[in-house]
Amino acid sequence: EHGVSPSDSSFFKKQPNIPMEFIWAKGEVGHAHEELREPVVDLEGFFSGDEVATQHAAMLVRSACLNHGFFQVINHRVDPHLITVAHDHMEAFFKLPWSKKLRAQRKPGSLWGYSGAHADRFSLKLPWKETLSFGFHENGSESVVEDFFKSTLGEEFEQTGLVYQKYCQAMKDLSLVLMELLAISLGVDRLHYRKFFEDGSSIMRCNYYPPCQEPGLAFGTGPHCDPTSLTILHQDQVGGLEVYVNNKWRTIRPRCDALVINLGDTFKALSNGRYKSCLHRAVVNRYKERRSLVFFVCPRENKVVTPPQDLVCREGTRKYPDFKWSDLLEFTQKYYRADDATLQNFT
Ligand code: SIN
Ligand code: FE2
Repeated sequence: EHGVSPSDSSFFKKQPNIPMEFIWAKGEVGHAHEELREPVVDLEGFFSGDEVATQHAAMLVRSACLNHGFFQVINHRVDPHLITVAHDHMEAFFKLPWSKKLRAQRKPGSLWGYSGAHADRFSLKLPWKETLSFGFHENGSESVVEDFFKSTLGEEFEQTGLVYQKYCQAMKDLSLVLMELLAISLGVDRLHYRKFFEDGSSIMRCNYYPPCQEPGLAFGTGPHCDPTSLTILHQDQVGGLEVYVNNKWRTIRPRCDALVINLGDTFKALSNGRYKSCLHRAVVNRYKERRSLVFFVCPRENKVVTPPQDLVCREGTRKYPDFKWSDLLEFTQKYYRADDATLQNFT
C-alpha cells in the first residue's frame, strides 16, 4: 500500500490555524531580515527655499526613484499631533463591533467603504486585514470626507470626519510639494507634474492588520505596485512594511516622524519609465495588531497621462502611450496591477 497512513509522519502534520482562503503557496510568504534605512529625505531646506538643500534632496529622490521608487521624508510640515489623532480615530473605528463597521460597508464596484478580511469569501490569498477607504477632493466649502463619515456611520463619527478631512488636506498639500521635488529631480519644469494633480481626487485607505496565528502562511497585503502615482503612508510602531530593493525584500522600520513615499505605475508613465513603481508588501505577525494610514494621489480622472516633452526629447523615445487615469483605474480594479507590458499596450 502506498496511500497515506497514520504511521506517516506527514499524516499528523499540523493543520494551519487560519482559514484556507488566506493561505499562500509554500515558499510564497517570506519575511525580510535586512532593514532599508535610506534614503530619508529632509524637506526642511526645500520648504525654506534653500537652493543647495533642495538640490541635495532632489538628488536623493532621484537615485531612490531610478533604483526602486521608495523613500521617506522628514520635516514634512504635517502636524505630528494630527497624525497621532488620525491613528487614534482609526483605532476606535476598527474596535467597533462588526455590525457597526458594516454600516460603512464597501459596495461591489465602489472604491469607498469598509472591507472586512472575509469580504471576498470565495477568492484565494485574501489579505489578512480590514480596510476603510474613502475619497478626497478639494471642492470649495464642501467636505466629502466629513459627509462620508456622517452618512455611513452617523453623527458620532462627525469628529472622525473632521480629523480625516484635515489629514487628507495635509497629505494633498504635501503631495503637490513632492510633485515639485520630483520635477526638479527629473530636470523638468518645476510645476509640470503639479498640474496633473491639483484638481485630482485622491483615495485614503486605513489598514488594520489583526495578529495572525500563521504569519508564515498569510500576507497582510501581498506583493504589489500601486497603480496610482504617489502614495504617502504613515505606519504605526509595529512594523510590517517591506519593499523590494536590489532583488531583495527589505524591512522599513517605523519612524513616527517620517512619512513613507512610494511611486506608483502612473508616475512611472509620467516619467517616461525613468522612475520605478515601487514593489512592496505588508507582512503580519503573531502578537501585535498593526495600523497604517495610506493616501493615494491620483490625477484628474479624464486627464491624459503623458510625460513632459523635454524628458521625451532627451531620451528619444516614448516608453508608454498616453492613457487616461480613469481607464487605468478601471483596469486595475479588475486586474490589480498594471505591469510594464500592460502600460505599453494601454491606450
Ligand atoms: C499597502 O501597500 O497597501 C499597505 C502597506 C502597509 O500597510 O504598510
Ligand atoms: Fe501599496
